[in-house]
Amino acid sequence: MENILLLTPYSLGSLRLPNRIVMAPMTRFRAAEDGTPLPVVAEYYAQRASAGLIVTEGIWPSSRGQAGWRMPGLETSSHIAGWQQVTDAVHAAGGRIYAQLMHGGRQGHPLSRLDGDVPAGPSAVPVPGPVHVRGGMKADPVVPRVMTRDDIRVAVQDYATAAANAVSAGFDGVELHGANSYLIHQFLADNTNVRDDEYGCGSIANRIRFAVEVVTAVADAVGADRTALRLSPGNHQFGMTEVEPSPVYCALLKAVNGLGLAYLHLTDNDQYPALRDLRPRWTGTLIANVGENRAATSQQAGESVLAAGQADLISYGRAFIANPDLPVRFATDAKLNAIVEKGLYTHGREGYTDYRALEVDPEPIGAREG
Ligand SMILES: Cc1cc2nc3c(=O)[nH]c(=O)nc-3n(C[C@H](O)[C@H](O)[C@H](O)COP(=O)(O)O)c2cc1C
Repeated sequence: MENILLLTPYSLGSLRLPNRIVMAPMTRFRAAEDGTPLPVVAEYYAQRASAGLIVTEGIWPSSRGQAGWRMPGLETSSHIAGWQQVTDAVHAAGGRIYAQLMHGGRQGHPLSRLDGDVPAGPSAVPVPGPVHVRGGMKADPVVPRVMTRDDIRVAVQDYATAAANAVSAGFDGVELHGANSYLIHQFLADNTNVRDDEYGCGSIANRIRFAVEVVTAVADAVGADRTALRLSPGNHQFGMTEVEPSPVYCALLKAVNGLGLAYLHLTDNDQYPALRDLRPRWTGTLIANVGENRAATSQQAGESVLAAGQADLISYGRAFIANPDLPVRFATDAKLNAIVEKGLYTHGREGYTDYRALEVDPEPIGAREG
């Protein structure tokens, strides 16, 4: 059989990944109203344990960062107990799993939050509306409250506390969501950060300050080798604008490259060739995602990025939703299941744990040397 780079093993710190296929973080709204993951979440991730690494959906570090109703949290003892079920199930199935910590910042709405508060962000710039709120309704977005220095200090601490909670819940590490319009990205982007203080847009050093503080606080709390960062330079999702991403992200990578983080998870897009520009500036492990704002990542697309040396690992989102056994499908050149849109953002098993795996023996997968 031809040598498939995606199926070669990789050492991620102390974790031995049997292949280079990472399950990308994907919000699926399978939490109880208090943010505790439902029991079916353990089954869902355990079904996908043949991934080299699983990164969970975005999880709010504290209710202050809740971006949406029925999204999970990592704040309370109930959350930790719920996630412990998930990590136990994944580990029992032979997998590895990181928690993605996602503080919503301006993303959020009083009708979608347990605390019912107006969300706070770097500046008083609302998301483009309408927005989805509790009960499947749509509403006009609210103007976020401008974070004070105290709010910033609390948010940094919230990430660190949630990271410690993640480790208590049995996660192998945490990925900080600095991509796709959430709080860290809001500090980095041009239109969502119009502050004039030391976290503001007056200089690149100011603009990256919040990201660096969060990464450093989390690395101090749980160890740099269990701390990872996701970035999506130039991604215009949810109305984000970054006119000139390169200098901002080069400075950010320079600031955190020496910390010894577990990995950088970078999403490429059509606005800015992030992988080409930033890969040479990152000395650690790099996970590439090449499907953001494009068609779902194919086996061929991932293989090409690895062959070009632009990343060590490739993350797959949509393909993993519909194909719990994605690595074995790549290995056997099997047909991929298509996503059923209907179950994407509901709360039940349908469209979640009912995608079929192939009836083949997955044993040889990952045992192959590169
Ligand atoms: C249903 C869905 C939910 C997503 N939720 C998140 C999320 O919580 N955090 C995140 O960083 N990216 C999220 N993403 C983006 C994916 O991680 C990934 O970057 C994107 O799907 C492109 O990869 P693909 O082509 O392999 O699907 C989500 C994508 C989808 C389809």
